[in-house]
Amino acid sequence: MRRWAIILTVAIWVTPAYSKIDRKEVVQSFNPVRHESSNSSPVQVGNGNFAFGVDVTGLQTFMPFGTLSSWGWHNFSLPIAPGQTSPADFTGLDWWTHGRLVNYDQPNPAEPLISNWMVQNPQRINLGRIGFSFGNETVTETNLSDKSQTLDLYSGTIVSRFEVSGSQVKVKTSVDPGSDSVAIQVESDLLRGGQLGVFFDYPYPDVNKFDAPFVGVWNATSQHTTSLQKSPNQAHITHTIDTITYYTAIQWSGNASINGPLNSTHRYVLQPRGDSSLDLTINFSPKSNQTRDDASLIAKSSADWWQDYWETGAFIDLTRSQNKNATELQRRIILSQYLLAVNEAGQDPPQESGLVNNGWYGKFHLEMVVWHLMHWGRWGKWALLNRSMPGVYERFLPTSIQRAQDQGYAGARWGKMSDPRGRSAPGEINSLLIWQQPHPFYLAENEYRAFPNQKTLQKWDEILTETAEFMVSFAWYNTSTGIIHVPLAMEPIIIQTGFYDLGPPMYPVSENTSPNATFNPTFELAYWRFGLTTAAKWKTRQHLPVPTSWLHVAHNLAPLPIINNTYPIYQDIPNMWTDPTTVSDHPAMLGIFGLLPPSPDLNLTVMRNTADKIASVWDLANLYGWDFPLLATNAARLGRPGKAVEYLLDANFVFDDVGMPVGGPRVATPYFPAAGGLLLAVAMMAGGWDGSESGSESVGKRFPGGWRVDVEGFEAAL
Ligand SMILES: *[C@@H]1O[C@H](CO)[C@@H](O)[C@H](O)[C@H]1NC(C)=O
Ligand SMILES: *[C@@H]1O[C@H](CO)[C@@H](O)[C@H](O)[C@H]1NC(C)=O
Ligand SMILES: *[C@@H]1O[C@H](CO)[C@@H](O)[C@H](O)[C@H]1NC(C)=O
Ligand SMILES: *[C@@H]1O[C@H](CO)[C@@H](O)[C@H](O)[C@H]1NC(C)=O
Ligand SMILES: *[C@@H]1O[C@H](CO)[C@@H](O)[C@H](O)[C@H]1NC(C)=O
Ligand SMILES: *[C@@H]1O[C@H](CO)[C@@H](O)[C@H](O)[C@H]1NC(C)=O
Ligand SMILES: *[C@@H]1O[C@H](CO)[C@@H](O)[C@H](O)[C@H]1NC(C)=O
Ligand SMILES: *[C@@H]1O[C@H](CO)[C@@H](O)[C@H](O)[C@H]1NC(C)=O
Ligand SMILES: *[C@@H]1O[C@H](CO)[C@@H](O)[C@H](O)[C@H]1NC(C)=O
Ligand SMILES: *[C@@H]1O[C@H](CO)[C@@H](O)[C@H](O)[C@H]1NC(C)=O
Ligand SMILES: *[C@@H]1O[C@H](CO)[C@@H](O)[C@H](O)[C@H]1NC(C)=O
Ligand SMILES: *[C@@H]1O[C@H](CO)[C@@H](O)[C@H](O)[C@H]1NC(C)=O
Repeated sequence: MRRWAIILTVAIWVTPAYSKIDRKEVVQSFNPVRHESSNSSPVQVGNGNFAFGVDVTGLQTFMPFGTLSSWGWHNFSLPIAPGQTSPADFTGLDWWTHGRLVNYDQPNPAEPLISNWMVQNPQRINLGRIGFSFGNETVTETNLSDKSQTLDLYSGTIVSRFEVSGSQVKVKTSVDPGSDSVAIQVESDLLRGGQLGVFFDYPYPDVNKFDAPFVGVWNATSQHTTSLQKSPNQAHITHTIDTITYYTAIQWSGNASINGPLNSTHRYVLQPRGDSSLDLTINFSPKSNQTRDDASLIAKSSADWWQDYWETGAFIDLTRSQNKNATELQRRIILSQYLLAVNEAGQDPPQESGLVNNGWYGKFHLEMVVWHLMHWGRWGKWALLNRSMPGVYERFLPTSIQRAQDQGYAGARWGKMSDPRGRSAPGEINSLLIWQQPHPFYLAENEYRAFPNQKTLQKWDEILTETAEFMVSFAWYNTSTGIIHVPLAMEPIIIQTGFYDLGPPMYPVSENTSPNATFNPTFELAYWRFGLTTAAKWKTRQHLPVPTSWLHVAHNLAPLPIINNTYPIYQDIPNMWTDPTTVSDHPAMLGIFGLLPPSPDLNLTVMRNTADKIASVWDLANLYGWDFPLLATNAARLGRPGKAVEYLLDANFVFDDVGMPVGGPRVATPYFPAAGGLLLAVAMMAGGWDGSESGSESVGKRFPGGWRVDVEGFEAAL
């Protein structure tokens, strides 16, 4: 009997081979293949802090796609107008806020130059361009034949082949997981006779809000400088743009010489001689004289890192469904997983376009961190989330406390459109948006579910405390609401309780309402209650007292507004379902039963009515990015898996051939909150949520009928 028991245990531990997903096979079945360059999106390799986007040659030969990093930022010179010479001169605007004037970081018409400078600076820079040079020949993409390019997702390697002047060229491109280095391995007879080399070129920064698909300008050559230092099999190029300097360290194998710059440019050419192969490592760094591994070692590190990435954490396989919708959803999932690791796993939260090109000057938005980053945790890849969280909140805490203090609030008021130093760009919407405030609770609570220990509690405690203090002091006690009339004897006794209101002024998630009229938005009320309830739990878990003010505000927040048996954007909004501009921005009210777990006062009938109303009247063509995953999480919780998948495959929610989420009518491509949101929604469908049916049998019920769904490693969501 005893022996049997042991054998049984072993049998359970060693999962039969047939039930384990062959992740490598699933991943590689979605390897993107191109036969020509795209003029809108690159094929990319990268490590989360650094990425290199290429055209069909495997380099940036014909298309100057981006080489972007976490650290590469630049300021244009400050204005020289009197009283507008430094950010300290910026005074913002005072707006009436519940009977007092509060100063907001909004562009001041009396200070247009410095206001604008603070919006546009610093901006993220394109570190440089690396491409093939063809000796004395002028070659364009039309001169190339037999072009074929495959990105192997499983090893993070791009293999590109083409023929030019009658000879084959084969190129392998990868990026070091541990440094900002590109490894390039070229094979071609053209290398022998000087007909094929590699050029390096450098742009000046641009001042466009959206710098896409290419970043920087190439003809402002006199406004920046480069210089070359050569040593055997190595060279360093120093690039100085105004007050910043950074370095390109180039190492190669074999016999080659580097020269430049070609007159009136910042272009340098590495010209190999004698050998039909060339291995190159190019490192970009703010530090001089970096040396890195050989290209073949980097290619190996890349393959190891990516294998580990795919084989650990959660995974879903829909490929055995034999249904084209399942296959397309799987394609979006795999390519999103790849691109988010390349673009969105850095020391700072990512910008909307990751490391592909620039949107909003390359800055990141603190209200977007949940869409960009929470999926890491939900897919069991905490180490990647850990790179920026909670570090960014720790770093921004002092300036956020200062921001709250300057406005007469307690605690820390988190900024919005940020650079790595934490300055929030001036803007009317930027300064009045509030849904970024509870995000630390969402991130921390998810982490605590995965790591329910003292370390997690301590790590987030100060951040959550300061966040709660602000949220409590921001909520405004409205003595004219919540009046309870108790008729007693002859004279009624009035017990005046009051509710805590959010706003005005404020902007809700949908940024298209009038800020001085907007108050008690549905999503923000639910999120405030979630945040303050979590704040209290956090203290209780540490056996610390819960400040009574936290509980008082949490319990007395205004109730979720209801208009005609539906949840509106905010309380008393006029013409909620009939004004075309109202029914066209982010439908955030669905997030209170989707992204967020249900709050105690949620009315499911009203929720269903709201979801139905949105499905029938909302302008889906004007939605973008994470709106569709938002709708999907709500449909999932409402038990409508078909509808959830329909949203995730909506005609207005497009991922291109390499998986870049297409921006659509309102933003540039890529728009990565779409990809992060997709993974968040899929994790919820795969792993369920608190109170959903559990067990492996239940998984299929959260997907459309008839699909074959295999999952590994998902946990229930909040
Ligand atoms: C840009 O200028 C600000 C001062 O306003 C400074 O704090 C920051 O370090 C500068 N950034 C760069 C990249 O020069
Ligand atoms: C909101 O009110 C402030 C005064 O407190 C005013 O300056 C501002 O222009 C108003 N904003 C809008 C969008 O009406
Ligand atoms: C490239 O194509 C152009 C136009 O067809 C032609 O004039 C040129 O000679 C070609 N160059 C090479 C190197 O084949
Ligand atoms: C390029 O042109 C230069 C000068 O005309 C010549 O010396 C050199 O051999 C040519 N290189 C090739 C690869 O044809
Ligand atoms: C660079 O090219 C752009 C577009 O052709 C042009 O508008 C700009 O004036 C040029 N800048 C310089 C410094 O030549
Ligand atoms: C490297 O190439 C140059 C130029 O072709 C040649 O002069 C030199 O002899 C070569 N060196 C070696 C070690 O092959
Ligand atoms: C360098 O500039 C001169 C004069 O403008 C021009 O004739 C020559 O073609 C240029 N050389 C290169 C390699 O661009
Ligand atoms: C790199 O090191 C070499 C030799 O040590 C030195 O000559 C060169 O100036 C250094 N380059 C930079 C950019 O610091
Ligand atoms: C997160 O980073 C900290 C140090 O910054 C480290 O102690 C911790 O182990 C990391 N956690 C994970 C899950 O990687
Ligand atoms: C409720 O719906 C009715 C019928 O559609 C409409 O006439 C009325 O204005 C709505 N009420 C509010 C407060 O929007
Ligand atoms: C929920 O809303 C519906 C429709 O407005 C209403 O009939 C019902 O009484 C509400 N339920 C609760 C528990 O308030
Ligand atoms: C795919 O989804 C669309 C939209 O929901 C639906 O019309 C179609 O029937 C689905 N196709 C399959 C094969 O399930």
